[in-house]
Amino acid sequence: LFSAIEQAPADPILGLTEAFKADPRSNKINLGVGIYKNEAGQTPVLDSVKRAETALLEQVTSKSYLGIEGVPAYAKAVQALLFGSESALLKDNRVFTAQAPGGTGSLRVAAEFLNKVAGANKIWVSNPTWANHSAIFQAAGLEVASYSYYDKASHGLNFDGMVADLEAAKAGDVLLVHGCCHNPTGIDLNLDQWKAVAELCLAKGLVPLFDFAYQGFAKGIDEDAAGLRLVAEHLPEVMVANSFSKNFGLYNERIGAVSLIASNQEEGARAFSQVKRLIRGIYSNPPAHGALIVSHILNDAELTALWHSEVAEMRDRIQQMRTIFVSKLGEAGIDQDFSFIERQNGMFSFSGLTPEQVAQLKDEHGIYIVGSGRISVAGMTLSNMDNLVAGIKAVL
Ligand code: LMR
Repeated sequence: LFSAIEQAPADPILGLTEAFKADPRSNKINLGVGIYKNEAGQTPVLDSVKRAETALLEQVTSKSYLGIEGVPAYAKAVQALLFGSESALLKDNRVFTAQAPGGTGSLRVAAEFLNKVAGANKIWVSNPTWANHSAIFQAAGLEVASYSYYDKASHGLNFDGMVADLEAAKAGDVLLVHGCCHNPTGIDLNLDQWKAVAELCLAKGLVPLFDFAYQGFAKGIDEDAAGLRLVAEHLPEVMVANSFSKNFGLYNERIGAVSLIASNQEEGARAFSQVKRLIRGIYSNPPAHGALIVSHILNDAELTALWHSEVAEMRDRIQQMRTIFVSKLGEAGIDQDFSFIERQNGMFSFSGLTPEQVAQLKDEHGIYIVGSGRISVAGMTLSNMDNLVAGIKAVL
């Protein structure tokens, strides 16, 4: 059975990490995968997480199965974080949340539900989008179409192109949007544009699916949810796949959630029963640890405040790296304008480097970035900055 199987290509993001680990050069730099690094080049366990884990060690009395939808207190905390604790959507019991394994697991459950239960056939994703999106959606049976997003000339948003392309979308299609910190471009919609997207979805009968993996990395926890909240208030049906890999640094705990917003509680409860049925057939019920950490923190005012300050620290360090990177590129005598990097949000910068330049950076300088030219600014430090700038200067 196995003898004729072809080798699968390396994953464009995680495959780079494998190549990076195998690279013997001591001055190598990994700006591929979106993982936060502190100034010492480490991905620390947050203090809020450590304190929650210490408390949990004492409190946990059983490792028995969770329910299919996970830890109930976690689901409530997720909903308050996404929509605000005073949200009318929560008061009207229109939101149903299942804990799921990370952003990918949450997206996959959402996509399975949209295709197998709700009958959606097509999903529209931005061009470009996260390298894993197509694989997830196609595996769930959805056809993937793309809409314009990035304007190469201005290194900004092509909103007119986005709206024009979505003219071809049909009622019942799904519109995948990035809640904030668009991956890979770092370019987000403003509130007027979110409003226009909500109106477009309403007029055309599209269901938005939010991929929300970077809450807190653009402007702040509540500020970054403004687009989601606006769209969710306007529309009868919305889905959200959120992840706590980045903002809680819980990468290897695989903790996220899939939320559905229905037009009323009764419809939502029926739809959610199908989400649970799907989960039962994929991984039965989720692992507990990540959810217990997040719900412990979000149900403790002091730990929540500490977590907010830790997210702000990560956000500010990345922003500082953006500023230093742009100014060092200028100081190095590179006359190409890279100032757009300072206007992008989140972990990533869409640099405009070509696939050939990306390959040369890896082969000749030990600098790893994704083939699309996406750089993880979160991996820059004061100590690797000069080597990075020298490498980029050489390939330009
Ligand atoms: C990324 O985009 O680098 C991260 O979301 C990690 C991943 O799984 O690809």
